[in-house]
Amino acid sequence: MFTSGFTFTFTFTFTFKFTFTDRATSPKRDRYLMTSTEPVQQKNISSDADLFPDWITYQNDMLHLEGVACDRFVREFGTPVTIFSGNRLASNADAIRNAFRTYNPDAVIAYAYKVCYLREIANIFVKQNLYAEVMSRLEYDLAANAGFPPEQTIINGIGKTEQEIRRVLGGNTFLINADSISDLKQVNQVASDLGICARVGIRVSPSADDPTFRIAGKLGSDIDAGDAIRIIRAARDMPHIDLAGLHVHSYSRETTPELHRQVSEKMRDFISELSDSEDILFRLVDIGGGFSSRYTMERQGYSIEDFARNIAVPLTFPDHSPRLVVEPGTFLVCDAAITLTRVLAEKTNAGKKWLIIDAGTNVLSPFPGNYEVHPMIGSASSSVCHFGVSDGLCTPLMIQEEAVLPDTIKQGDVLAVLNCGAYTISSGANWGYPLWPVILLNDGQTEVIFGAEHVAKLIKIMYGQNHTLRGDH
Ligand SMILES: Cc1ncc(COP(=O)(O)O)c(C=O)c1O
Repeated sequence: MFTSGFTFTFTFTFTFKFTFTDRATSPKRDRYLMTSTEPVQQKNISSDADLFPDWITYQNDMLHLEGVACDRFVREFGTPVTIFSGNRLASNADAIRNAFRTYNPDAVIAYAYKVCYLREIANIFVKQNLYAEVMSRLEYDLAANAGFPPEQTIINGIGKTEQEIRRVLGGNTFLINADSISDLKQVNQVASDLGICARVGIRVSPSADDPTFRIAGKLGSDIDAGDAIRIIRAARDMPHIDLAGLHVHSYSRETTPELHRQVSEKMRDFISELSDSEDILFRLVDIGGGFSSRYTMERQGYSIEDFARNIAVPLTFPDHSPRLVVEPGTFLVCDAAITLTRVLAEKTNAGKKWLIIDAGTNVLSPFPGNYEVHPMIGSASSSVCHFGVSDGLCTPLMIQEEAVLPDTIKQGDVLAVLNCGAYTISSGANWGYPLWPVILLNDGQTEVIFGAEHVAKLIKIMYGQNHTLRGDH
């Protein structure tokens, strides 16, 4: 287990004094007076970077990304701006591939396309020879366009159309995961029309009682309730279905391997039962994703190697071990992006300090939302306190509930939001705030992969409005 650990070198005690004096004699407003008596804490802000992913450092108190000072990005691109590290993306791919191949030498690592659609980002994973996992026709086309060949593409999604199935089967896709008997029947029919046998996995769900799987109740077929065996028997009896494997995905983003271990053990028992009672042997087990960002995981004292061991060991059989397929999204990209953002307003409300920033939840969505806010300019010693950090939009959504930042942070200062590569740019919208520029860093060289002019074009096409990000039209 990775044990570098994570220790705060300071502690906070917040004491709020409520003064409830005799209501009859005290002025009415006293009732609402709450004084924050938080002790001033000193903290070495720059030393936070000891725990950061290695592409993020403080040098002379200034935050640097792959060695480039952040104020340069702010000058060139304004705020907000999101910056991806090509090196970190490649290093995350290496880490997860090496971890799983230690236990399962042919393990397939498939980039969960939903996590980020940007072609230049996906292209890094093409070069790393990863497979792609897609959940719709749109994602299939985007992945193909980024360079993932069909025979290295895995098809998910629980409501496929006949046209989609025809398209992906025609392309000799690596695996198509079926989610229901109706789904399976369509795949069988199209495969029959094409005169082929479709390589199929069946998506199962370990237990509807498990809260992780209950929230995603529409996905998969429950093992305990008997739905899984029903669909597997149906698949076995269809002439154009090659029943190659099982698929499962843990919907939460785990920082510890416990849930994945339990799921793998459940899958092992189910596979053994199917082998004994139905004489079914699987060549593939697709265990999906569900890992947190690498940065968050390692700060919890775990590594992807711990996950790989806990997943692969239970699925190692003495005579016939299936090839593992892993579909990471968050792990690959979450900690490889940072957003630089400016403070629009500062306030105290009900004893809580707030910073309102120009990077909105229109992109930094609360799902999965483990953002971490740090100052662009750190220092050897700062007085720090807790801030709620959110955007200026009229919703209660948070970016970070309790960020620890210098108490001198004020309107106009620049902050950095870590952990924002996953499910942000791909699901972002021009809602309230416009989308914003995205930069890819490659060994310190910048490439604009989504620029201010693209944002302007989108707004013009969709709403007929001229718009510039700096508001100077
Ligand atoms: C089937 C499937 N595979 C992989 C993923 C990627 O998950 P994560 O981002 O947790 O790695 C998802 C995400 O929801 C998914 O639904």
